[in-house]
Amino acid sequence: MSGALRLGFVAMPATTKGVLVLFCGDALKFGPASRKVIGAAGNLIERAAKAARYTGRSGTVLDLPVPEKLGVDRLIVVGIGKASALKPSDITKFGGIAMGKLPASASDAVVFAELPDGAMSARQAADLAMGMKLRNYVFDRYKTKRKDDDKPADKKISVAVADVAEARKAFAPCEAISDGVIIARDLVNEPANVLYPAEFARRATALRKLKVAVEVLDVAAMRKLGMHALLGVGQGSAHDSRMVVMRWNGGRKTDAPVAFLGKGVCFDTGGISIKPAGGMEDMKGDMAGAACVVGLMHALAARKARVNAVGVIGIVENAVDGNAQRPGDIVTSMSGQTIEIINTDAEGRLVLADALWYTAKKFKPKFMINLATLTGAIIVALGHENAGLFSNDDKLAEQLTKSGLAISEPVWRMPLAPEYDKLIDSKFADVKNTGSGRWAGAITAAQFLQRFVADKIPWAHLDIAGTGFDSRQSEINRSWGSGWGVRLLDRLVADHYEK
Ligand code: BES
Ligand code: MN
Ligand code: ZN
Repeated sequence: MSGALRLGFVAMPATTKGVLVLFCGDALKFGPASRKVIGAAGNLIERAAKAARYTGRSGTVLDLPVPEKLGVDRLIVVGIGKASALKPSDITKFGGIAMGKLPASASDAVVFAELPDGAMSARQAADLAMGMKLRNYVFDRYKTKRKDDDKPADKKISVAVADVAEARKAFAPCEAISDGVIIARDLVNEPANVLYPAEFARRATALRKLKVAVEVLDVAAMRKLGMHALLGVGQGSAHDSRMVVMRWNGGRKTDAPVAFLGKGVCFDTGGISIKPAGGMEDMKGDMAGAACVVGLMHALAARKARVNAVGVIGIVENAVDGNAQRPGDIVTSMSGQTIEIINTDAEGRLVLADALWYTAKKFKPKFMINLATLTGAIIVALGHENAGLFSNDDKLAEQLTKSGLAISEPVWRMPLAPEYDKLIDSKFADVKNTGSGRWAGAITAAQFLQRFVADKIPWAHLDIAGTGFDSRQSEINRSWGSGWGVRLLDRLVADHYEK
């Protein structure tokens, strides 16, 4: 949880005290309002820039404590490079860079939302503030011994804009989205002794405040529905499994919903096919897919998205006790298909099998997109830079690819094909839960999921094992749990599925 961030908008020209943040383009080009304040300091900036070989290249920072003749304690200049070629995600990044410099300061700060050719639009100012908010996030709930000079200071940060009312209006949806990302990060960062399935479900019910209908299915309810693929995974744990169904109805009554599903394995020991000890602590993040869905539902509801959306998350702990599922066990999924368990560590797909079937049958959605930290193999293939995308629908795949690029959460499409599908045919049951060897491990996992997509509904699977946690750090994310996917899917909805 972040130190109290008091982030607001003020009108330009703003009083400049405390810390001042300005943006400059190539060749140290400032906007008019910025020029006016720094004019008071004569050629101080030029001298400092020359001494530091600073030119305003994109992403670079010139940091001047107690600059002479300026009334501020500190002047921070963030370079934006070529001002004409800026994308929204660039502006968000600059907000992150600016915020990255602020925690060390004690005093209030003013950030001039100005580009070399004049004030930022309200939209740009909102993107900037979103970057600041996302960068400010720290999960320090369990740090009880931080020294005073290591704690984020309680201070006010003002973004100076041309039109405060317009900026506030533009920021409202951005705030909804960044709160969604932060909810997802908190859930992923939380340890598994605190965040077990019932507690995860309880936290999801907070969405009711935003008029999201939240239904929690317990073990008895899932048994009734025949969800033995999911239940088999949770049966070795002291913590009972749950499924949470979230519904936001912001669209027309008769419109079919869009559906988002998440793997919510609160902790993945591997089960009887137990994982090695090294790094196993990371498996508290094996619910990043489900966390994203909760954060996304928050974003959609909080910004009153004009769409009908359902979120379905399967929440279990994959643990080991005398009742744990064994390799060789055969379970009957809700779809009726029987599954031979080859490896109890391939549990996420079992959870999603029932969630996918349930969602298709119950909601007949326009599409289903599931997110899952599903395979180590996708990290081997794509590292931490791209999430794996598998889809039975070219249009949906393309929309996801474009949205990902637009907000810097890229996805890379991987193949599905009958040749891979046959690798999961089972000797004893309809299907087995792993391929025969380790080759194409991310693909055979996706093929398994596809067998549980009913009625040829457009479907996409995002394998976020490399991006959901312990991922590439960026200017807008310094958290282990990244909240990856919330911004991507919100963008997908906003661009293509809102009336
Ligand atoms: N949760 C893991 C995948 C994972 C690994 C996510 C590392 C993030 C980081 C998943 O349940 C798993 O164990 N997958 C196995 C599948 C195998 C047994 C077929 C894997 O990837 O090794
Ligand atoms: Mn596993
Ligand atoms: Zn797992």
